[in-house]
Amino acid sequence: MKKIGILFGQENTFPQAFVDRVNQKAVDGITAEFVRIEEVEQAVATDYAVIIDRISQDVPFYRAYLKNAALTGTAVINNPFWWSADEKFFNNALAVQLGVPVPKTLLLPSKARPDDTSENSFRNLAMFDWHKAFEKIGFPAFMKPHAGGGWKSVYKVDNPDEAWRAYDETGQLVMLYQEAVDFTDYFRCYCLGGKDVLIMPYEPRNAPHQRYQTEMKTQGEEGEKLLATIKDYVLRLCQGLGYDFNTVEFAVRDGIPIAIDFGNPAPDADINSVGPENFEWVVEHAANLAIERAQAQQPGRDNLTWGTFVQKSAGQTAIASSDGAVEVGTPVHETNDLGANPPAPAKKAAAPKKSAAPTPVAPEGETPKPAAKAKVTKAAPAADAPAKPKKPAAKK
Ligand SMILES: Nc1ncnc2c1ncn2[C@@H]1O[C@H](COP(=O)(O)OP(=O)(O)OP(=O)(O)O)[C@@H](O)[C@H]1O
Ligand SMILES: [Mg+2]
Repeated sequence: MKKIGILFGQENTFPQAFVDRVNQKAVDGITAEFVRIEEVEQAVATDYAVIIDRISQDVPFYRAYLKNAALTGTAVINNPFWWSADEKFFNNALAVQLGVPVPKTLLLPSKARPDDTSENSFRNLAMFDWHKAFEKIGFPAFMKPHAGGGWKSVYKVDNPDEAWRAYDETGQLVMLYQEAVDFTDYFRCYCLGGKDVLIMPYEPRNAPHQRYQTEMKTQGEEGEKLLATIKDYVLRLCQGLGYDFNTVEFAVRDGIPIAIDFGNPAPDADINSVGPENFEWVVEHAANLAIERAQAQQPGRDNLTWGTFVQKSAGQTAIASSDGAVEVGTPVHETNDLGANPPAPAKKAAAPKKSAAPTPVAPEGETPKPAAKAKVTKAAPAADAPAKPKKPAAKK
């Protein structure tokens, strides 16, 4: 029996509908349930063939659990490694390379310095030239976190004063500064399995629960063409990024769909916001995707989806290293004595030395007895200070 699990947070409608749908299909050898996590140990496999992740963006513990699960054979949807690496600025840059139009976008150094940094941490950074940015991007413009969601800290600004006022509120967030697209149509599109696409008219100016209650304005042949282009762009982006379950948003200006936000690997799928028809589509396609992936899943192997961007890079690396002298070592498991699935032993694996005293790790609330007096090393002083250190933050 292969198990499909769903990991979720505060949402209430999609998880149960998904589990019910998979189970109603009664596919031989496949069952679905809510993920249950007890002890999480390194290199120990979970008993899920597939996990649909709807929440690890908010729970770092889950993200780490999922990486371990993926390493030991679970097909995690979406790929937790890629999701950890991804952010909106990179997404936009990749879109340009994939031939998908995106708004003109700059990356802003954060207003406040990150914790534990000083002026010296920013000696490579020139003063940000706001006037040049205003000229390049124009008004109105959007300022939004380069890695964010839920419309948090998203600002629309109409002039330099508003831009600076917004920037002043952003603290340590790294922000995008982006051309605002004045649109006639707006769409949000589900993409599942890098192949199934649902294009939903979306009106971001409505209240949240009414954003899907709108119609496409572009009609006739032009409308058909627009939808075909959007589908093509959605597939390019989702295959490029390697997301199995994503939404892609477009603002349409002068008949051209411009991708606004396409890194949404736990997209809204609540019946109360997307509406019953879109909900039915996403439940059905997610159930089919999960079943397909469970059937294809090979225990102990990498069952993740990697986008074409990573695949190409990995291909290049493999070619480059095939001539080199680097060899992959035989896995060792001296420290893996807690019942984890050990890799097959090497022919002459060294036995763990009995006398080697491991550093004790204290269970919660206990103080470890040190094996030997711990050495305290002072942090090395920073590199030579420059004659005139520059200020890190963007200037007004
Ligand atoms: N460049 C832009 N031009 C026009 N509208 C934009 C632009 N950037 C963002 N918006 C508007 O702001 C909304 C929120 O922006 P964005 O989707 O990037 O943020 P988010 O926090 O990821 O939101 P979500 O949780 O919906 O994914 C968009 O749905 C869109 O209506
Ligand atoms: Mg988003």
